[in-house]
Amino acid sequence: MDWGLKNRLSSIIKPNNNRALMLAVDHGYFLGPTEKLENPAKVIAPLLKHCDSLMVTRGVQRTSVPATTDTPMVLRVSGGSSIIGDDLSQEDITVSIEDAIRLNASALAMSIFVGSKYEYQTVVNLGKLVSEAQKYGIPVLAVTAVGKELGKDARYLSLACRMAAEQGANIVKTYYCENFEKVVQSCPVPIIVAGGKKIPERDALQLTYNSIKAGAVGVDIGRNVWQSEHPVAMIKAVRSIVHGNSNVEQAFNLYKKLANENSKNKSNKPNQNKSNKPNQNKSNKPNQNKSNKPNQNKSNKPNQNKSNKPNQNKSNKPNQNKSNKPNQNKSNKPNQNKSNKPNKTKPNTKK
Ligand code: 5RP
Repeated sequence: MDWGLKNRLSSIIKPNNNRALMLAVDHGYFLGPTEKLENPAKVIAPLLKHCDSLMVTRGVQRTSVPATTDTPMVLRVSGGSSIIGDDLSQEDITVSIEDAIRLNASALAMSIFVGSKYEYQTVVNLGKLVSEAQKYGIPVLAVTAVGKELGKDARYLSLACRMAAEQGANIVKTYYCENFEKVVQSCPVPIIVAGGKKIPERDALQLTYNSIKAGAVGVDIGRNVWQSEHPVAMIKAVRSIVHGNSNVEQAFNLYKKLANENSKNKSNKPNQNKSNKPNQNKSNKPNQNKSNKPNQNKSNKPNQNKSNKPNQNKSNKPNQNKSNKPNQNKSNKPNQNKSNKPNKTKPNTKK
């Protein structure tokens, strides 16, 4: 194996214990602003230092991950279908290798849909991606995506994982199932288990524990971390199993302890809701938007200024942040809900 490939792989699967803790935040590529991942920057910031690698799309990486991070990026390079479209399995490669290199990807990730209408297309794409990525020493992680109609049993998952490995994937991400050892044993490359839908914290820790015990190198967990009431407590508890060899009881106790501390901290902090702060309009000047155009706020996102306050965007030009500081768009800031009403989360668009 070439040095670059080995080096990148070892940043994802830690060589000291052959374990990996990946945090998945790529869901928006087909789910849009799914529940509790509406603001990726805000979700990622406190979790980034607790995972070994981050599974992310290029859009979220560029807008919502500080370029100063030393956490390796596992870049999702496939997409094309949405949760409301005809068929989720109709995916293609959407990111060029040049862009992946610009983004300093430590691995490329794409889904294959074995047994679905677009099986052929996605499996052939995996082979092509591996050929391309190999040229530059970048590992490929294949996700064995499971459609509604396909079972998640050991027979099916063994087929999908083995096919991914045969195409040259360096890591396979799949789902946990009964007799998972069989899936691991028949796959010649390391397997990482996806967390799946949000379940109670203890169950998610049990899933992590079972996966490792059955031979997976780790987990690539998303919703069960950031949809938890206490995401940092949860990722630390998952980490204690993956890297600290905790059992489920120990990990769950850690989660409860940290969650409890977090709740206390939250209730001790003064209300930081901006509506209680004095007017921060520094100039007190009226709207300086010189044109009559609607608010062209800096983040390119639709105007979320829900109040009737005058537009404070001083120019109509795009972001003129001249420094190399990470994206300072408004969505990266803590809750700016100007009223005292609780933050209204958008309806869950997932399956
Ligand atoms: C989406 C993915 C996700 O990264 C994967 O499902 C892991 O996230 P979760 O733990 O929420 O299932 O590949 O296609």
